[in-house]
Amino acid sequence: MSGLKIVGGRALCGRIHVQGAKNSVLPILAASLLSGGETVIHNCPALSDVDAAIDILRHLGCRAEFTQGTAYVDSSTMTRCDIPDELMRRMRSSVIFLGAILARAGEAKLSMPGGCELGPRPIDLHLLAMERLGAELETRGGNLLLRSHGLRGGRIDLSIPSVGATENAMIAASGAQGETLITNAAREPEIGDLGRYLRALGVKIRGEGTSTVSVEGGGFAPCCQHTIIPDRIAAATFIAAAAASGGDLTLTGVAGDHMRAVLDAFSRMGVEIRECGDTMRVLSRGKLRSPGTVTTGPYPGFPTDAQPPLMAACLGAEGISVFVETVFQSRFRHVPELRRMGADIKVDGRVAIAQGPGRLHGARVEAPDLRGGAALMVAALAAEGESIITQMRHIDRGYEKIADLLRSVGAEAERID
Ligand code: UD1
Repeated sequence: MSGLKIVGGRALCGRIHVQGAKNSVLPILAASLLSGGETVIHNCPALSDVDAAIDILRHLGCRAEFTQGTAYVDSSTMTRCDIPDELMRRMRSSVIFLGAILARAGEAKLSMPGGCELGPRPIDLHLLAMERLGAELETRGGNLLLRSHGLRGGRIDLSIPSVGATENAMIAASGAQGETLITNAAREPEIGDLGRYLRALGVKIRGEGTSTVSVEGGGFAPCCQHTIIPDRIAAATFIAAAAASGGDLTLTGVAGDHMRAVLDAFSRMGVEIRECGDTMRVLSRGKLRSPGTVTTGPYPGFPTDAQPPLMAACLGAEGISVFVETVFQSRFRHVPELRRMGADIKVDGRVAIAQGPGRLHGARVEAPDLRGGAALMVAALAAEGESIITQMRHIDRGYEKIADLLRSVGAEAERID
């Protein structure tokens, strides 16, 4: 089992080039099935979730490669329409392949995704979207079987602006005959990125990034290139790390417009953020203040994925910081681990209250999930002494070569096995 050893107390200084967005590349890799042609994806991050998506594409019979930031998929050789349980379990977001497989093959067979670290993760809205496009659903022995005799455009009204369901609906609708209207769609920047990819593929799509998206399927381009947007959650994590360690970090390849709610919260804490094009300088000098109450919500609200690293940065801030989690049920699983490092945090249902400023000390802690692991990294960088974060497999899902990267900006960080 691998872990991350961090000796805290060093200010992070230097430059970090922010990786491409994990949550963008996964749906785009899935959508590459649609055309039966070739897709080249640039700025693709080297993450275990991307490896899992590439393995799914290969299992389906596609040629798929990933080297040095570029993924290549040739889906002309696709022969299968199922995702086995082992691959579904490796990546919860495998359900994002549902719409693409169904649209391409007329049939999709997936094992039912279970709950995950963040609590129950229902997929009712994904299934509703497929049914609205004319698919028939059967569930048998924990497996989902969807069939269609050619998907047809339709109206999909989402009761919650689910990111994954919006993406699945957009992808399936791209392979349907006629026009589809998706209402109450999620507006996350990653949806906009998927829209740009689908447009490059030849799909007539309008309104992606707003609450109403219309999609008209049609002929696909035989080949297509796409560059993934910057990962706003990785950027938020690095800002939290610079804030907590009292650093001076320059982030390059970043999109400030995708992270206004996050930048506002750090500014309220007294972190200075200077933006210039796709570069952002983050300066944390002296004392931090609590940002007050931070309530997570769908975009453009404060992203639930950035809540754990922000909470870790708030532990050294003067005053009480309140976190209200409205998106997922179990999103405070990092709290008991932070407490092992000396944090004063109380949790009541979906509200967490952190009292600062506290002095954190190094400890052996376990990453409970991906972003909970990010919170532990931030806390360990600010803590006195040595921390060991175990269960690195969670962190590897979302952060590229993290130990090397932290070392390159002055942290004492080392991967251990
Ligand atoms: C995506 C992101 C994840 C992020 C989340 C919210 C990816 C790969 N993952 O996850 O990092 O934390 O958006 O920004 O992009 N829901 C239902 N029924 C459904 C689908 C969702 O009730 O069919 C609920 C969920 O339980 C949750 C809420 O909707 O409470 C939002 O989830 P959703 O936006 O779907 O998150 P994901 O797409 O899974």
